[in-house]
Amino acid sequence: MPRRSSAREINADRLWSRLSELSGIGRSEGDGVTRLSFTEEERAAKDLVTSYMREAGLEVREDAAGNLIGRREGRVEGAPVVLAGSHVDSVRNGGDFDGPLGVLGSVEALQIMGERGVETERPIEVVTFTDEEGARFSFGMIGSRAMVGTLAREDLVKVDKDGVSVAGAMRDSGLDPERVGEAARPEDSVYAYVELHIEQGKILEDSNLPVGVVTGIAGPVWLRFILTGEAAHAGTTPMRLRHDALAAAAAVIGRIEKEAGRTGTSVGTVGQLDLEPGGINIIPGRVSFSLDLRDIDEEVRDRVEARIAAEVARLCEERGIALETETLQRLPPVPCSDLVRGAAGAACEALGFGPFELASGAGHDGMQLAGLCPIGMIFVRSKNGLSHNPDEWSSKEDCAVGVEVLYRTLIELAREL
Ligand code: HGY
Ligand code: MN
Ligand code: MN
Repeated sequence: MPRRSSAREINADRLWSRLSELSGIGRSEGDGVTRLSFTEEERAAKDLVTSYMREAGLEVREDAAGNLIGRREGRVEGAPVVLAGSHVDSVRNGGDFDGPLGVLGSVEALQIMGERGVETERPIEVVTFTDEEGARFSFGMIGSRAMVGTLAREDLVKVDKDGVSVAGAMRDSGLDPERVGEAARPEDSVYAYVELHIEQGKILEDSNLPVGVVTGIAGPVWLRFILTGEAAHAGTTPMRLRHDALAAAAAVIGRIEKEAGRTGTSVGTVGQLDLEPGGINIIPGRVSFSLDLRDIDEEVRDRVEARIAAEVARLCEERGIALETETLQRLPPVPCSDLVRGAAGAACEALGFGPFELASGAGHDGMQLAGLCPIGMIFVRSKNGLSHNPDEWSSKEDCAVGVEVLYRTLIELAREL
């Protein structure tokens, strides 16, 4: 078990300067960061991370899915690897820490191991997973799905808003989508996966703690509703004769908020909405909008989903609106393993913080890796719980504590077979 010492090994200045350098890539003037998967911005971010991995003495490669991997050997040749990491792709107009803290924190932890001459039995790899967010292709976790061998051929033909497919975007960024299967890791090749990430919520701040250990990750369902009514003249069409797709969507969205709020644990969000034809004097004929619905309990989530689906169908029926529903992503909630929770909890305790445990409302690549190995996460406090927003912030001190916990957790997981 990690020694009971609150002494810090991490080079907080180096971590912080790397975080600020990386946050400059994809930043629009005075606003947030936009680094979508397989774009120049993500490529530039990966190139910068490559340079940091090399400075840390890691052996660097990119797998067939575009995951950037920095490896530190252990004493035992061929022993199952301990994985750490996160992502550098972002949402549109996002913040500086969501993803980069986990990637750069893992590089820092391995660099310190090298500088301190720490030897481990197992090899350790830092993975920068490609397309965790799903901001470009509306389903996400492409890199981690490929690593566990579940990225399907039909995923490669999904397109972004400009009609570019995943396969086309991969080719544009120098990858061969035909070879994506080579990124899959064999069974038993990975011992454990641990990710350092900002909490993106208010629990740690309310508990006045810099770090916490994650118990499990809520499962998201992403749906798209397409409502087709009838475009008509805004001036000559009486209210009772309309098939107004936007008025129907507004009624539906109000019901979604009510149903999702009913359980106290579920969350429902309509983040995207498009309407046609979009004239001031034309009744909207077609509206499509997204639904992101989550809960840490799958049954509760699915009951809420069923109630929402029934409400949408009823309201569209009443209003003479045709309804299509697409499922974009459906992931079960995933528990974190006792193995990783135990190691991370002991590290927090050694540093005098808890261990304090909390669930993750946000999705993460560990949900995919759970199909391959025990997973766990370490959270760092988020100011005002804000994320997916340019004002996303975690303090240098809290980031350093999080990396210190990660460093000790990795040593604990990798030090013996
Ligand atoms: O959507 C999520 O929860 C994550 O930020 N991709
Ligand atoms: Mn993230
Ligand atoms: Mn995110």
